[in-house]
Amino acid sequence: MSLRAVITAVGHYVPEKVLTNADLEKMVNTSNEWIMTRTGIRERHVMEHGATSDMGAKAAEMVLKNRGITALDLDLIIVATVTPDMFFPSTACLVQEKIGATNAWGFDLNAACSGFVYALTVGQQFIEAGRYKKVLVIGADKMTSIIDYTDRNTCVLFGDAAGAVLLEPGEDGKGIIDHKMYSDGTGAPYLYMAAGGSLHPATHDTIDKKMHSLYQDGKSVFKAAVVGMADVSVEIMERNNLKGEMIDWLVPHQANLRIIDATARRMGLDASKVMINIERYGNTTAATIPLCLSEWWHDGKMKAGDNVVLASFGAGYTWGAMYIKWAIDPPAGK
Ligand code: UT7
Repeated sequence: MSLRAVITAVGHYVPEKVLTNADLEKMVNTSNEWIMTRTGIRERHVMEHGATSDMGAKAAEMVLKNRGITALDLDLIIVATVTPDMFFPSTACLVQEKIGATNAWGFDLNAACSGFVYALTVGQQFIEAGRYKKVLVIGADKMTSIIDYTDRNTCVLFGDAAGAVLLEPGEDGKGIIDHKMYSDGTGAPYLYMAAGGSLHPATHDTIDKKMHSLYQDGKSVFKAAVVGMADVSVEIMERNNLKGEMIDWLVPHQANLRIIDATARRMGLDASKVMINIERYGNTTAATIPLCLSEWWHDGKMKAGDNVVLASFGAGYTWGAMYIKWAIDPPAGK
């Protein structure tokens, strides 16, 4: 059997404070009914103190504990995020310091909501090349730090969280089997944060114009996401000869319940095989997929040998899907 990158442990972190739809009704002209029917979101978590690296470090520590190793065992840390603590140094360096992973190097990767699947694909290459034995892949975003809480179009959608997985080499047929990633920069005008970069450095004017907050043309992104996420999921099924009934779990990016449902329908999947937690967390960008994996694994719902498909779509546009043969048995007692 060929060498594969295997997810051998999972972890996550979600801040305690909850922002409900009822809270948002008091802040902008919206309603629980609108948010639930249009998005499927009931509440989201908000980090009051600290930054993305703090959430990433906590998710990383859960991974290390679950695997029974220390941070010194790590070779490489990849952090997918669009809300780094600061432009530089990288959030990966800050996580490395916080967990004490002094033998690891690391870097950040920005692919917005597809950040985790992109980062997992990058980590996979280092393992398959035989160069590294333990690669930590983190998806973490403090989306509330770039949200304008007077803009009802976006403020109801996002929340804060981190998820992480450990990749190690394996040769028993389990692990990451296939991936297909896409980028299309013509999607850039529909989902972005305009200022703070080299195009529009921070000025009083950029602040007055709210250019440091996320902008989304929801309808345009919705149309592209429904097609993109479903198409790439079907593509990964077809080229791996997977029929709907052979898939144990679809792990979709959690941006909108209607996008998730459309993808599952195109794949011929029963709703019971789709990981959905958008109701409790909203869209946590790079964290949605590892957060699902960690929650479902901790609940004892995943077993070694399961066929798992990850699928994502986000700003860029970026999108992709991965086929994984799951390798970890449920936790003791589950
Ligand atoms: O994760 C990265 C990728 N992102 C996505 O995949 C998100 C894709 N887009 C979406 O999920 C949806 O487009 C949204 C949930 C953002 C919006 O849903 P929609 O069904 O596309 O609504 P819309 O933007 O077409 O707005 C419909 C109406 C508008 O009013 P008018 O112009 O018809 O009078 C909006 O002003 O709903 C209004 N609206 C709201 N009303 C109450 C927009 N936001 C709200 C709100 N509460 N929070």
